[in-house]
Amino acid sequence: MTIAAPIANSLQRASWIRQMFEAGARLKQQYGADQVFDFSLGNPILEPPTKVHETLHALLDDPAPGHHRYMPNGGFPAVREYLANELREEQGLPFEKEDMVLCVGAGGGLNVVAKALLEPEDEVVALAPYFVEYGFYVQNHGGVLTVAKTRQEDFLPDLDALEAVMTQRTRAIIVNSPNNPTGVVYSQEVLDELGTWLRTQEQHFGHPIYLIADEPYRKLLFDEVVNGSVLKAHPHSILITSHSKDLGLAGERIGYIALHPEVPDRALWQEALVFTNRILGFVNAPALMQRALPHLRGVQVDIGFYQQLRDQVCDLMEEVGISCVRPQGAFYLFPQALEEDDVAFVRRAQEEKILLVPGSGFGWPGCFRLSYCCPSSVIENSRGAWLRLVESYR
Ligand SMILES: Cc1ncc(COP(=O)(O)O)c(C=O)c1O
Repeated sequence: MTIAAPIANSLQRASWIRQMFEAGARLKQQYGADQVFDFSLGNPILEPPTKVHETLHALLDDPAPGHHRYMPNGGFPAVREYLANELREEQGLPFEKEDMVLCVGAGGGLNVVAKALLEPEDEVVALAPYFVEYGFYVQNHGGVLTVAKTRQEDFLPDLDALEAVMTQRTRAIIVNSPNNPTGVVYSQEVLDELGTWLRTQEQHFGHPIYLIADEPYRKLLFDEVVNGSVLKAHPHSILITSHSKDLGLAGERIGYIALHPEVPDRALWQEALVFTNRILGFVNAPALMQRALPHLRGVQVDIGFYQQLRDQVCDLMEEVGISCVRPQGAFYLFPQALEEDDVAFVRRAQEEKILLVPGSGFGWPGCFRLSYCCPSSVIENSRGAWLRLVESYR
């Protein structure tokens, strides 16, 4: 064996996903990318707003020395202060700049928090269907991911299912709203209920149980729906977000972690996050991107563009007879597959040159994920293929 067995196992387990992507790539090569209807990707298609480019140009033209060097590992103090002010205003909580740690995207932030929190065999709960990387992130730090299903009818947390997986080793629950893969948004009411329940669990187990919010889609909201706040729902909570989606900067890897001001051992947590950011080898978040943030207050990609795509794709699904929960955020749908075996369904869709991701990849067999983060023409031109696919099941 040349590489570590757990990594070899993870590669093996994920090999069917890879095969699926390879099949999609082959189809594109064979028929031309414009003849294939690719609904499999979560890579934002909108370019960053002009203000982002202007800001980066202006920063590069700024001759001040030291701007590309290391800074304190938690980020530039002025940027942390800016973020603390912004969140203080938004959440009405007394954040200090030390509560804010700049990180390498939400994925980096989740690893920084997991590293600070977990001891070997500690458990973190994910709510299925869930972003499959959570399992790897928790495993990276010796933890174990346990899974509780959400409610079948609306993909919202099911407290009975959660209670069934809680153990003395449970240290945290990860929530993701707007959700990948369902597009569901958790209201304040839903999170408050979860917070109240968590406090009874904390009493029962005798230690804090953290509510970790993974929110790279937090600004991708439709129909004036409001995303609930974990910070308002539970004092032992940590928000992790990024600008991968709302500014279209996924490749630039910029995000931040916000620690609730009432976490126990706040000062220790603050120090720990800066330390784990460093020792995971991130050292710090990208300097140029950090410096851009205070100039980009209120700037975001055109969310209306994604909302139009949402409407277009939901109308198409309705027309062809595939029912689904209408998403209120992010850019995904998670409908029921037309046969029990979601992998077989996705393979059959490939025969019509439609690329999807099976729900099994999110711990929820029987459904499929459709990403409408694609040009409107892809949705429009796929109509015939969808009709043929549905017809083939009649
Ligand atoms: C649910 C979820 N969490 C985290 C991430 C990672 O985001 P980032 O690019 O900010 O690391 C993604 C990316 O698609 C995601 O879908």
